[in-house]
Amino acid sequence: MEKLTVLPYKGLGSVISAETISFHHGKHLNAYVTNLNKAVEGTPMADMTVEQLIVKSAAEGLTPVFNNAGQVLNHNCYFEQFKEDAAADAAPGGKLADAIEAEWGSFEAFKAAFNAAGTAIFGSGWVWLQADAEGKLSIGKYSGADNPVAHGLRPILTFDVWEHAYYLDYQNRRPDYLAALWQIIDWKVVEARY
Ligand SMILES: [Fe+2]
Repeated sequence: MEKLTVLPYKGLGSVISAETISFHHGKHLNAYVTNLNKAVEGTPMADMTVEQLIVKSAAEGLTPVFNNAGQVLNHNCYFEQFKEDAAADAAPGGKLADAIEAEWGSFEAFKAAFNAAGTAIFGSGWVWLQADAEGKLSIGKYSGADNPVAHGLRPILTFDVWEHAYYLDYQNRRPDYLAALWQIIDWKVVEARY
């Protein structure tokens, strides 16, 4: 049984307003958690982890389970990686920083590629930094609830590009929203995923 993580409904600096968080976490994520629990209740799936539910539902075409489990994992990764007082110029360190540099040449070049990928997603979806079994990084563009876990990859960092994530604060300006999110990334959380 999934539980909604507790999140104080205050804003994240000037980047995401308290109003957006109250709708995005309190209404949208809450609905995904509730609907996932309803979909698996009374079945052997009730004891599975969200990751296991994503893999099983992807393989077996269980669309309602896939959509809700995917959205639970996606949003948990999204909300857990933010920190109100993260340094605006913060950058990753350690082996994640090395792997980013190896793949894109610099953190700045990676950010530009990530923002461009997020901007290019048509309609609702997610842009991810993901790693394969060898630790090789790539940027993934996913529609709807799809995510790296469904494709055998490890989720590292994600920006939600569903309109519910940014419309109240940025209206249709998705590129501005994507550019601003870097100011609130808690890199310690993201590095631990790698
Ligand atoms: Fe969302």
